[in-house]
Amino acid sequence: MAPEATPAPARVLVVGGGGRENALAWALARCPGVEQVWVSPGNGGTADLPGCHQLAIAEADHAGQLAACRQLAIELVVVGPEAPLAAGLADHLRSAGVAVFGPGADGAQLEASKQWAKALMQEAGVPTAGYWPASSEAEALAVLAAQARPLVVKADGLAAGKGVTVAETLAEARAAVREIFAGRFADGEGASLVLEERTHGPEVSVFALCDGNQLVLLPSAQDHKRIGEGDTGPNTGGMGAYAPAPLLDQDGLEEVLRTVLMPTLAALQARGIDYRGVIYAGLMLTETGPSVIEFNCRFGDPECETLMPLLGPELAAVLWACAKGQLDGAPALTIQPGCSACVVAAAQGYPGSVRQGDPIESGLQPSDTLQLFHAGSRRSPGGACLTSGGRVLAVVAQADDFDSAFERAYGGLAQVRFAGMTFRRDIGHQVRSR
Ligand code: AMP
Ligand code: GLY
Repeated sequence: MAPEATPAPARVLVVGGGGRENALAWALARCPGVEQVWVSPGNGGTADLPGCHQLAIAEADHAGQLAACRQLAIELVVVGPEAPLAAGLADHLRSAGVAVFGPGADGAQLEASKQWAKALMQEAGVPTAGYWPASSEAEALAVLAAQARPLVVKADGLAAGKGVTVAETLAEARAAVREIFAGRFADGEGASLVLEERTHGPEVSVFALCDGNQLVLLPSAQDHKRIGEGDTGPNTGGMGAYAPAPLLDQDGLEEVLRTVLMPTLAALQARGIDYRGVIYAGLMLTETGPSVIEFNCRFGDPECETLMPLLGPELAAVLWACAKGQLDGAPALTIQPGCSACVVAAAQGYPGSVRQGDPIESGLQPSDTLQLFHAGSRRSPGGACLTSGGRVLAVVAQADDFDSAFERAYGGLAQVRFAGMTFRRDIGHQVRSR
């Protein structure tokens, strides 16, 4: 007998306060059957979402999140960011019987430890650059001396996207090693790193939803990591994105499923890990095929904002089914045809220290094909919306082609204003003709 179709959860909690969580809350609140969505702690944008409520609970407050789940009879928790996942929030809630979309601390090591992830990839035969783990400065410097060429230097722990140096020279690689052991990213004591061969090619992000046994592929997406136009300047969390990425057609996606995602899931299972959440593969499309640059244990930001408008109304049921380990009974997730374009507006100074507290004025009227998702914003006691972080908001638009989608997104962005607003005008340059 076929299992009964999983319905949607009526009461959902989204943990986190960025643009990704605003997009998740928006998408889940639109799903038939979802009656109410809470966001903890949310931001100045989630405060305005219809059917959505804010909870002033920090991501790190596991006991507070569990108490809220009990009090509000939450049926599904979706954890947005990596830090609470790596800290075991999903384990804490699951052990109390709450259904959680997001891996436990064991599975979150895919992102939280580069050494662990590289070892798992090697064991699973997943294509990725050759690497050398090192647990002391002397060990790392000895590898560099033996290789006599600049390798990519990666701090082992969560470093908010800032722990990687693609060194051009040996001296730069040595300096990056010394910085890691001097404690720039974490406690220098006990720090470790990975030295990696440099690979070449365009980068693309692939996301799969996982219930511990099965995978559901989402459209691929392309992020823009650098602050400056022409992909220049320092790395950021991401200044814009588009989906689906034409670089990876259906055949390419199937190849990634076969060579990367399925072997990774098998290796997780072999370690006794019941992985229920997103597997995000950051890939480089090299001459010899897709190669994994990194895994993340959550949706990308701003890829999530870009993808959510393309996903069908089954999303809540599908995430719930993943959380319960029951994708078999879930409806198929429909993917809307067309293109999605996302442009991020950041505060002056980003990705360094930024000015904050400026009022955000917006005349943007969201529609079925145009969305405004807040990230670093908050409400003043009087209700005004103020900037409060590096990436302040994202404008996302959909259309039949990328030119029209980006025109719509930039048109939307032109209706938003805050002092010091910074954005790239060339997001999607790879797929736009004007
Ligand atoms: P990550 O934080 O692991 O995403 O790395 C940040 C960026 O560093 C990636 O998006 C790539 O552009 C670059 N990168 C990481 N690993 C490599 C590598 N093995 N070869 C070349 N570039 C890399
Ligand atoms: N946009 C890249 C990330 O979320 O890691």
